Amino acid sequence: ALISLRQLLDHAAEYSYGVPAFNVNNLEQMRAIMEAADKTDSPVIVQASAGARKYAGAPFLRHLILAAVEEWPHVPVVMHQDHGTSPAVCQRSIQLGFSSVMMDGSLGEDGKTPTSYEYNVDVTRRTVEIAHACGISVEGELGCLGSLETGMAGEEDGIGAEGVLDHTQLLTDPEEAADFVKQTGVDALAIAIGTSHGAYKFTKPPTGDTLSIQRIKEIHKRIPDTHLVMHGSSSVPQEWLAIINEYGGQINETYGVPVEEIVEGIKHGVRKVNIDTDLRLASTGAIRQFMAKNPSEFDPRKYLAKTVDAMRDICIARYEAFGTAGNA
Ligand code: G3H
Ligand code: 13P
Ligand code: NA
Ligand code: ZN
Repeated sequence: ALISLRQLLDHAAEYSYGVPAFNVNNLEQMRAIMEAADKTDSPVIVQASAGARKYAGAPFLRHLILAAVEEWPHVPVVMHQDHGTSPAVCQRSIQLGFSSVMMDGSLGEDGKTPTSYEYNVDVTRRTVEIAHACGISVEGELGCLGSLETGMAGEEDGIGAEGVLDHTQLLTDPEEAADFVKQTGVDALAIAIGTSHGAYKFTKPPTGDTLSIQRIKEIHKRIPDTHLVMHGSSSVPQEWLAIINEYGGQINETYGVPVEEIVEGIKHGVRKVNIDTDLRLASTGAIRQFMAKNPSEFDPRKYLAKTVDAMRDICIARYEAFGTAGNA
């Protein structure tokens, strides 16, 4: 059944677990996520980005998710819109049947320009008014994703600040977070702690200086009843990087957010953990490996099935590590 983000995260807070929110763009991702959830008895958050809507078309994404609900009726599913750039964008997703939306007012409508605190409060509060009138949940974001080493936001395309950010933007302030939640009424709050979107998050395994789990603890202490969201939370599995590079790919040395650090965050109020890149890496590695080993094969189902297997394994691992398993 479709449920709202608030319903799910309230349950997650009560039972102290976290929920991975996987981005979905195609059939294979959808099946991988659902098969993993079914196997581990986990509730699901699937999210569609603007890029996903552009790639697959909003109606296809919507029906992909509804098809999943039809095939696995016993699995609770949140249909979430990732990184909405305006109240109007969020309103359209609500009309399409999404049960949750993110209003990311930390960046302007271009998804690149950092905004003022007042702007962020204004667009987020307006979105909450519209959404709550329809029983839809809202995730807001305070602070900008980006590297504490370089101040860079990460991904070139998609959602991410342009230019160099300073530490006051890269680490969400606990006092400001408390005021933001009070003024907007958001159901969940995405915070900045040094992560960024994409594969290139850290040039070496992160330490307390580059990934601030300490900041999560400070924010949670200040607003213990607010569900926190970690974006840019792919772990960038070294084994998939090795497979991609072994079979003709070229991905430079890079590190993601270790699963054990996310688990520490979950002990301190993190309830939603956004993961996209890990499934992309597994998918690409699986295809490269299959193509190299089966040069005469040309049925796309053969290699696409390998992507489902690879992505499903990652989903299962995250459901188990975050304590989502057994909570459907
Ligand atoms: O927001 C970041 C997600 O990884 C979505 O990326 O805009 O390329 O679909 P995308
Ligand atoms: P990753 O790029 O780390 O998978 O983050 C995804 C994300 O935050 C989507 O909103
Ligand atoms: Na989101
Ligand atoms: Zn994100």
